[in-house]
Amino acid sequence: MIAESLEKLFNEQILIENTASTEYLKLAIWCASNGFDNAAKFFFKQSEEERGHMLKLVHYLIEREGKVVIELPKNREQKIEGIFDVLQAFYHNELNVTKSVNALVSAATASGDYNALQFLQWYVQEQHEEETQARSLIEKAKLIGNEGPYKYLIDQMLADAEGK
Ligand code: FEO
Repeated sequence: MIAESLEKLFNEQILIENTASTEYLKLAIWCASNGFDNAAKFFFKQSEEERGHMLKLVHYLIEREGKVVIELPKNREQKIEGIFDVLQAFYHNELNVTKSVNALVSAATASGDYNALQFLQWYVQEQHEEETQARSLIEKAKLIGNEGPYKYLIDQMLADAEGK
């Protein structure tokens, strides 16, 4: 059975993944409404993935006889005025998720819950990959710039990223 203090943090992580899923859905809708079809596809998929991350935590908590609390995702206003804002929102959200995953890993270590620690390694690796991807997309977008056919090129860049 999972410790109560860890159960609380797992539920907070469930909320964070759920919020990420909703935020990426909003980014996907902005992209789809502004002609960035590939970027929209990328963020619809990211939104699904974050929901998957949330469900993985839900199932784990049930298996460890924890109580799952589902709260509504936090509504953080994201000011999106262009595709660069979309990419920045993606990166900042991933940094936020990494912070909470690290806090959860620290708490599992402190409570000597090696089962939870092992389970959480997947999230540590996933965050490394997602942060790297988000940062790399921003760097590439900067190289493309914001003149001429940049909208098409950035959308194409996200078509390539979607396949990964
Ligand atoms: Fe599940 Fe990348 O946050």
